[in-house]
Amino acid sequence: MSATIIIGGAWGDEGKGKVASYEASDARLVIRATGGANAGHTIVFNNRGERHKIALHLIPGGIVYPQVRGLIGQGVVIDPKLLIEEVEKLEEIGIPFVRSRLRIAGRAHVVLPYHKELDELKERLKDNPIGTTKRGIGPAYEDKKARTGIRVYDLLLPVEELEKKIEVATRPHYQLFKDNGMEDRIVSPKVLAEQYSQYGKVIKNMVINADILTEEVCKNGDKIVVEGAQAYRLDNDYGDYPDVTSSNCVTAGALIGAHISHKCVDKVIVVAKAHCSRVGNGVFPTEQLAHIENDKVTEYDQPFVGDVIREICGEYGATTGRPRRCGWGDAILLKSACSQAVTGADYICLSHMDSIGKVGNILGSIKLCTAYRYQGKKIYFYPDDMELTGEVPEPVYTEFAGGWDIPNTLRDFDMLPEKAKQYIKIIEDIVGIPVKYIGVGPNNNDVIVRDDV
Ligand code: GDP
Ligand code: IMO
Ligand code: MG
Repeated sequence: MSATIIIGGAWGDEGKGKVASYEASDARLVIRATGGANAGHTIVFNNRGERHKIALHLIPGGIVYPQVRGLIGQGVVIDPKLLIEEVEKLEEIGIPFVRSRLRIAGRAHVVLPYHKELDELKERLKDNPIGTTKRGIGPAYEDKKARTGIRVYDLLLPVEELEKKIEVATRPHYQLFKDNGMEDRIVSPKVLAEQYSQYGKVIKNMVINADILTEEVCKNGDKIVVEGAQAYRLDNDYGDYPDVTSSNCVTAGALIGAHISHKCVDKVIVVAKAHCSRVGNGVFPTEQLAHIENDKVTEYDQPFVGDVIREICGEYGATTGRPRRCGWGDAILLKSACSQAVTGADYICLSHMDSIGKVGNILGSIKLCTAYRYQGKKIYFYPDDMELTGEVPEPVYTEFAGGWDIPNTLRDFDMLPEKAKQYIKIIEDIVGIPVKYIGVGPNNNDVIVRDDV
């Protein structure tokens, strides 16, 4: 058993990229399994004495370690133009042999320009838009399910055959464009085929039947890290439907997307922040008021709690730059995310323990949701019938006076401020899973790893 699976425990942006990269430093293979360029995974690392901070959208962050191989698995929907730009960016900052270490699953699907147009159009046609990242992710997965999707393998076909496939795929979409006065967005299948064939030529040597690679690594018992994208509450089945993404971001989805079975799994780490954030629309029980309107920060004299959390924790989208909605940490949400039935979590990684301490220093206290009041009762799970009841659970908070300071050089759990340890202990008691990893700063190795759990 060799695979470490990293899963987001809330609404995304929990610090998965950082933890996945930390775990990757002694791995043989790192895999992006689901989603596409809707994900933005920030990693901060040193390369040849220089500090780099980059947000990756498609390539697993562990690729920055020269001994590691990377795979973009079949569950990912790939924008090849962005992928090539990302490869070039890594090469520019001196990451060696990216093209010979990175592999792309031939069965992965491709995001084409019409998917992005459709993403915009479908949001526009909704009464309650989701607030998608507009990266064409939903429409690309729709085509995959409709069996008209274009796969990475198709980019390697003779150009006339690719054109035929694109022509079939775009027929209903282009009709929709015409019905909505978007004729000017129609790009002929011939032009698209020529352009995407060119991308095919650039990535050709990286495209593989990934089952063979993962089988070999699993059989050897070498370490694999699966870098999950999005999160439990954005999962198409488990999440806050319809305010979700189009893929399954929990463990089961990550396994299919990464070409591995449950037999390869060594451990599942669910990542959560000490506070919470969400981008896009949808319920958020512990959200605090903030000056955000239409994805922009508005002017303010007095900041609300949500503003303080956002500014101290740097909560701006790594993909879209949108200010993130912010609120207090939620141990009940995390308990549901760590359910053995849902993610099969072995460990929690709690990121931003440094930042929440700073928030407490400024605001005079830190709150943690330790129960919900819902339908006249106190409950200890995340309810899934809110649309039916028309009620959002009201958080019941445990309050910690003041804040704390944690230097990002700290690696010894025992040296954490007592109050921070208490905060962690309450989470462990509620969730029933150990907090093994504690984030104390943004660098890949700003992590306390506890050997005692
Ligand atoms: P992901 O999508 O889950 O990979 O997370 P993002 O990269 O979108 O957002 C996480 C943000 O928090 C990034 O800016 C990270 O650099 C930062 N970050 C992650 N862990 C920590 C931590 O423990 N402390 C601090 N201060 N920043 C962190
Ligand atoms: P990482 O991997 C935060 C959100 C969008 C929107 C909803 C659907 O960085 O944690 P989509 O474009 O997927 O159709 O949008 O999901 N969303 C994310 N929010 N982090 C992400 O990825 C996200 N990927 C999608 O904001 O609400
Ligand atoms: Mg992110």
